[in-house]
Amino acid sequence: MQKVLITSALPYANGILHFGHMAGAYLPADIAARYQRMKGRDVHYVSGSDEYGVAITLSAELAGRTPKEQAELFHKANLDLFLKLNFSFDHYSRTTWEGHQEPVQQFFLELLNNGWIEPKITEQLYSETEMRFLADRYVVGTCPKCGYAEARGDECPSCGSSFDALDLKNPRSKITGSPLVKKETKHWFLLLDKFKPKLQAWLETKKHWKPNVLHFAQEYIEGLKPRSITRDMSWGIPVPLEEAEGKVLYVWFDAPIGYMTASMEWSKKIGRPERWKDYWLDPNVKLIHFIGKDNIPFHAVTFPAMVMGQNLPLKLVDELPANEFLNLEGKKFSKSEGWSIDLSDFLTRYTADQIRYGLAAMAPETADAEFTFKEFQNRCNSELVGKFGNFIHRTLSFLQANFQGVTPPQGNLDEDDKNFISDLKKYFVEAEEAYETFRLRKVVQVLMEISQRANVYFDHKKPWALKKDPSKKEELETTLYLCIQAIQLLAVVASPLIPETSSKIFSFLGIESLKWDDAFAPLHHRPLPSPTTLFRKIEDEEIEKEIQNLHKLSQKHQMQESTQEQTFLPLKPEISIDDVDRLDLRVAQIISAERVPKSKKLLKLQVDLGFEKRQIVAGIGHAIDPDTLPGKRVVIIANLKPATLMGVESQGMILAGGIDTLEIPSLTLLPPGLPVK
Ligand code: 2FM
Ligand code: ZN
Repeated sequence: MQKVLITSALPYANGILHFGHMAGAYLPADIAARYQRMKGRDVHYVSGSDEYGVAITLSAELAGRTPKEQAELFHKANLDLFLKLNFSFDHYSRTTWEGHQEPVQQFFLELLNNGWIEPKITEQLYSETEMRFLADRYVVGTCPKCGYAEARGDECPSCGSSFDALDLKNPRSKITGSPLVKKETKHWFLLLDKFKPKLQAWLETKKHWKPNVLHFAQEYIEGLKPRSITRDMSWGIPVPLEEAEGKVLYVWFDAPIGYMTASMEWSKKIGRPERWKDYWLDPNVKLIHFIGKDNIPFHAVTFPAMVMGQNLPLKLVDELPANEFLNLEGKKFSKSEGWSIDLSDFLTRYTADQIRYGLAAMAPETADAEFTFKEFQNRCNSELVGKFGNFIHRTLSFLQANFQGVTPPQGNLDEDDKNFISDLKKYFVEAEEAYETFRLRKVVQVLMEISQRANVYFDHKKPWALKKDPSKKEELETTLYLCIQAIQLLAVVASPLIPETSSKIFSFLGIESLKWDDAFAPLHHRPLPSPTTLFRKIEDEEIEKEIQNLHKLSQKHQMQESTQEQTFLPLKPEISIDDVDRLDLRVAQIISAERVPKSKKLLKLQVDLGFEKRQIVAGIGHAIDPDTLPGKRVVIIANLKPATLMGVESQGMILAGGIDTLEIPSLTLLPPGLPVK
């Protein structure tokens, strides 16, 4: 069986993913994984959070958190988004998983022992106040070209020139403002230039890649130079050499190995610790990396070079369908300028399938593309509701009204029927080709062509007229049969793209699901349930409001002159005072606290509300010592419906805050039972 290994770029756990990211490296991967599974292939699909590197430490410092807390917060938030969008990862890992370190260090040591890595003394900017070397992103100073005083460590926002941080005049720390000096430090360099012939020969076998990816990689290889893969900082994977104490591996060295360690973690989880090798060490596996275009050099050149320098015959990438960028309403997505859509908020108003469909329809496949609310509305209304949903609904309603919901037999085919079937088969082949080559816009187009063609057939056959003429019974039955066949085809073709909707359609057809190649399987003749609505219509006012909100948000950001990256979770949708009123918050005194057996997180608390005693199970055991709790007076939600967690009943919820270590607001002066306002 063909084995397919699919990865999506590991997102940095320092912010929330937005539409642009989803359309680039994420949704296309999930769709590919779902399609490949439907083809009956052995699919392994992984991703995870990229949790080391300066991107994490800097945003954590700006937000007043530790890097670990920062990563924890955004790992969870991003995973939550993926789940809400129905992503079907086999595993979603994180580079701080304890099993990631050893394979990464092994990678480094093998490259070193095989002569692909060399140390070199370099100069870096050092802060004597902070007693540390500072990475470019931590540095500000005066532009050596135009004299602008607030130039960044690697480029000047005023004149646009880029340079080495060492060339800045009056360099200082972005965090403390302290002056920086040049200081010598030893670093290890990956000798990328030595891989040039190997890389060039290998790229010769990749002529079918998208031209943008291939050309970029070829040009990049021309200018290859040794590249430092170690850093003077403490957050990261330690360089496994005695003389390198206090140094870690560059995040772009450890992150791509994270694909492989994600598979290792998955293997452990399923109790087959060697299983990852079936994907990573088998030359017959097809490895597909889904990425955004800014990640091309690392996936087309640097990581392949790292793999080529290993002793194990690790898989090299086979397909690299890098996408371009998605813009929003005429401008680049920018969290710091408030030009963005909060996906988890958007998901409260639109379904995962509407969003998946909209993103696929506007995917930046061959050039930068644009997401506009108007187009989103049009796609959802005129395509999903008007063509796709309409055909399914009119057919199945007709079946209910005239055939008691039972699919009729297929009789003799006339010319129209034959043309219809042959068109459906042609579209099916086109859809397959589009999925095989990761062209989501084409998939969307074919799906609509099938819907359109089916509507035309229905209109042309006029089943409402045929049913009035008893001599046309067979023609009517055949028409209905073929229409239901078309619905089955639509459900199959739509399944990787809009899986929830497809499942619904399959249930309308009385089946659970179908494999790709069974799209034209004969239909059963048992009664089908009445169909329900697949998609709601999006009103103009809703879309107007979305556009207004975007502009409001961006103005708010401009007024605050916020230049920092967003490092906080977005707020949940607004609630009213009535919603708050429904919560009964009370002071409770903790009598005892113990761990729930076999659970890392759960604590069983006995609390006293003054007028009664309760048992509460709280998921705080990973971050709080139960022995510190008895005697504390805390706030609980007292009217929460009881729930059973790992077999233990919980009658309320205790309020606590924090990420890695939790704090419980303690109200020592208030008596138990007192309502809290
Ligand atoms: O650009 C990014 O968000 C990186 N964190 C992608 C890493 S991809 C891989 F190498 F892990
Ligand atoms: Zn400048």
